[in-house]
Amino acid sequence: MTTITVLPGNTSIKVDSEANLRDVLIKAGHPIKSTCGGCASCGTCVVVVLEGGDNLSEVSFEEKQLLGNVFHITSERLSCQTKVLGDITVDIGIHKAEEKPAVTKRRTKEEKHQILSDRKENMKDKPIKQGGKKRPKAFTTKE
Ligand code: FES
Repeated sequence: MTTITVLPGNTSIKVDSEANLRDVLIKAGHPIKSTCGGCASCGTCVVVVLEGGDNLSEVSFEEKQLLGNVFHITSERLSCQTKVLGDITVDIGIHKAEEKPAVTKRRTKEEKHQILSDRKENMKDKPIKQGGKKRPKAFTTKE
């Protein structure tokens, strides 16, 4: 049995050795973003390993391609490609950031009318453009 400490929240999860990190986190109720479903093609399941980086499986070729060569510096791993071999501490704060609402709020008829009337008010102060002073020369053909 190994222990995964998850930040923020400082919760602990007990798992069997060689468990898939993404699956374990999702099973424990932590939101891990993903669009590929764990196929190592989207790169959104990134977690930051704060402690115990040596207790994880080797970095795969696919991980290196998605994370770049800086994964040593940033301590990031793709959770879907990582197996837990010992005690670790991970930060999944990036997955808990507030999400935008899927649908933006529609304006009511009154709000639209108010916006239009405000624009008309603003336009009253501005001078009306009457076009440029130069006119293009008429096209003539010489025979
Ligand atoms: S879930 Fe898409 S790369 Fe891990």
